[in-house]
Amino acid sequence: MLSKITVVGAGNVGATAAQRLAEKELARTVVLVDVIEGVPQGKALDQWQSAPIEGFDTRVVGANDYGPAAGSELVVVTAGIARKPGMSRDDLVRTNADIVKQVAQQIKQHCSKAIVVVVSNPLDVMCWVTKQVTGFPRERVIGMAGVLDTARYRTFLAEALDVSVQDIQAMVLGGHGDTMVPLISYTTVSGIPVTQLLDKTRLDKIVDRTRNGGAEIVAFLKTGSAYYAPSSATAQMVESIVLDQKRLLPCAAWLEGEYGLSGMYCGVPCKLGKSGLEQVVEVELTAEERSALRKSADAVKQTMAAVTL
Ligand code: APR
Repeated sequence: MLSKITVVGAGNVGATAAQRLAEKELARTVVLVDVIEGVPQGKALDQWQSAPIEGFDTRVVGANDYGPAAGSELVVVTAGIARKPGMSRDDLVRTNADIVKQVAQQIKQHCSKAIVVVVSNPLDVMCWVTKQVTGFPRERVIGMAGVLDTARYRTFLAEALDVSVQDIQAMVLGGHGDTMVPLISYTTVSGIPVTQLLDKTRLDKIVDRTRNGGAEIVAFLKTGSAYYAPSSATAQMVESIVLDQKRLLPCAAWLEGEYGLSGMYCGVPCKLGKSGLEQVVEVELTAEERSALRKSADAVKQTMAAVTL
């Protein structure tokens, strides 16, 4: 258990993530920080009052400044605006880059030793903004996208095959956007290659639905974007770090030549443990997957070009 985890942004994703972290007792204190007066305090108090019922001892506190967050060992960044219908993740880039810049400056000042898990979109670019502004090494700035995209992919596969979601092993790599790369060659059902169980047409449909997984939910909600699964994915990454589980999860990592990419964030298989990003694992890809990953990386680079630091 850590002493303190801070979640910046007490909106849908941030507040739900804080609750999941508290329920898992991953820190003695979870601090919720937001610019809106009263919201982080009210949500934190409400969550803390669920502790006797849910049976956790983590104290949840809310604040509009970073005083209570000082010295946090881990910070989750969810500050920003959420997608509205018709908006792509990239439409968010300028607004959220300004917000994430401010947040990263505060993290650097008040939580200089923290591992940062970035959730704000467009994800890969917000990770880069955070890394540049904090000056933290790549081990300590990791992005949440692949775990969520993979969870969506696994859910749709389980539905198509009528099997438990727990028996689907898969990885979705690439940038967190329409160009993401579900690795069909590494998708198995209890070790059985998925290609033996589903034909190409059905698999292509599932891959397509995964790529549009976020937009499908935005279209239903109309005034916001997904947060239950995103906060679960965030909590899984945090848990692997806090408990030093060394789980191999698809995360956005700063690349230094891996997969032929460098100077950018992109979703790749990562080992997460107590030091944060402990290893980027390189696996062989098919020619088709390699070219899809390159295309996805190009899309991330284009979005990076829209931001001045
Ligand atoms: N510092 C702290 N919090 C901020 C700041 C800031 N500078 N600017 C905005 N916020 C807060 C807002 O006040 C709001 O409470 O961030 C919160 C965002 O919450 P929501 O609007 O509910 O958005 P949410 O669905 O939680 O998504 C947040 O995560 O998944 C991504 O694309 C999503 O980028 C978006 C982020």
